[in-house]
Amino acid sequence: MKKRHDHYFNKAKKENYAARSIYKLEEAQKKYKFINSKDNIIDIGCSPGSWSQYLLERIVKTGFVTGIDILPATFAHPKFNFIQKDIKEINYDDIGDTVFDVAISDAMPNTTGDRETNHFRSITLAYTITNFVILYLKEDGFFFIKVYDGRDLTEYKKYLKQYFNSIDVFKPKSSRDESREIYIFCKSFIKN
Ligand SMILES: C[S@@+](CC[C@H](N)C(=O)[O-])C[C@H]1O[C@@H](n2cnc3c(N)ncnc32)[C@H](O)[C@@H]1O
Repeated sequence: MKKRHDHYFNKAKKENYAARSIYKLEEAQKKYKFINSKDNIIDIGCSPGSWSQYLLERIVKTGFVTGIDILPATFAHPKFNFIQKDIKEINYDDIGDTVFDVAISDAMPNTTGDRETNHFRSITLAYTITNFVILYLKEDGFFFIKVYDGRDLTEYKKYLKQYFNSIDVFKPKSSRDESREIYIFCKSFIKN
C-alpha cells in the first residue's frame, strides 16, 4: 500500500505538479469528462495548485481558471487568476458578474487526530462552498467537491440534490485507502 502512495507522490514530482492531488482530478475527468477546453472554471482551495496546473496545461485552451485559497499558489499562468482569501470572505467585489461552467473544490480545513471533528469541519465548509457555488454556477454547470465521509454526509447529499439533476460519490484510486475523503460529482445545476 505504501508503495502505491509513493508512486503518486513521485509521479507528481517527476511531472512537475505541485501536489499528488492532480491524479484525483485526472481520474474524475477520465470518468465524467465534465471539463472542456473553453470552460470558465473556479478552483476552490486550489493551493498549492496542481488541479489548476493540470487544467491549464492539459485541458483549458480558450477558457479560464480562477483559484481561491487562504494559502499562496505556487505557480502563475496567463489564464489563471488567483485570489488569496478565505472562501467565507469572498464577495461580489472579487468575482463580479462572472458565471462559471464548472466549480471544483478540494478545500479542507486543517485536520486533527479526531475523525469526527474532521468530518464536521469538512461538511461545514462544504455547505459554505456550495452556497457560494450556487450563486455563480451557470445553468447545467458541474460541481465537484471533496468531503470527509461521516454521519452528516447523507444530509449534505440531500442538500446538493435540490440543486443538481444527479450526484455521484467518487473515491479515486489515487486517494489513500485509509483516508475518509470522498468526492461528490454533481451534474447539471438547476438554476432557480
Ligand atoms: C488538499 S489542499 C488542495 C490541493 C489542490 N487541489 C492542489 O491540487 O494543489 C486543500 C486546500 O484547501 C485550502 N482551504 C481550506 N479551507 C479553506 C477556506 N476556508 N477557504 C479557502 N481555502 C481553504 C487549504 O489552504 C489548502 O490549500
